[in-house]
Amino acid sequence: MRKKIVAGNWKCNTTLSEGIALAKQVNQLVAERGNKETVVVLGTPFTHLASVAAVVDPARVSVSAQNCAAEPKGAFTGEVSVAMIQSTGATYVILGHSERREYYHETSAILNKKVALTLAQGLTPIYCCGEALEIREAGTQNAFVQQQLEETIFLLSPEDFGKIVIAYEPIWAIGTGRTASSQQAQEMLAFIRGLIVAKFGEAAAAACSILYGGSCSPANAQELFSQPDIDGGLIGGASLKAEDFLAIVNAF
Ligand code: 13P
Repeated sequence: MRKKIVAGNWKCNTTLSEGIALAKQVNQLVAERGNKETVVVLGTPFTHLASVAAVVDPARVSVSAQNCAAEPKGAFTGEVSVAMIQSTGATYVILGHSERREYYHETSAILNKKVALTLAQGLTPIYCCGEALEIREAGTQNAFVQQQLEETIFLLSPEDFGKIVIAYEPIWAIGTGRTASSQQAQEMLAFIRGLIVAKFGEAAAAACSILYGGSCSPANAQELFSQPDIDGGLIGGASLKAEDFLAIVNAF
């Protein structure tokens, strides 16, 4: 009943022309051979959003920003507001990616503002969480992720929480080729779903799409997506190659 989602996160890659070409390729492959059950999302740089939205079939491929401003508008040089994102045709916003938390010092307080603005504009946040290697090695990853959620999206009303997609991305698995095992990913996603049961109830937990991200590839996607609590993936490197991305879209 909950959505299966495969979202690409292109990060800071592709020029505009490269991005349009990639989006066209993905759009065509999805139209020809894509699993119709999978919601496909392309997370492009801000500069590409409108152009990518214009070349994909919105019934099959949705477009996402990778961040948004923490303020609705005004004198914030260089920032891109949620209203601007929405005006491009994008319908999702990736928020709280570990790269933004680490390199741009995004805190829970900042993320709460971004989540609220995204929801108020009618866009869907893909809210990222996940622990660093030291935390995994210390065995305290569950408590860490729980705190990330409790300080942010668990503070939402049940109605707003129902609009969120969660992505668990262990930092040690991002871009490293060292994916979490399907068992490690399943354990964490089941833990997160259990927290949602306790906070918002069984129905909310059953309806919430929770994605795994971190070195997800055509080689491991099927094994990961066969786990009961893994509802799809947030894909970095492999989303830059249309055929690889399609293989992941079709890995359910
Ligand atoms: P990789 O798939 O390149 O490991 O990146 C994952 C990620 O950070 C997606 O947001």
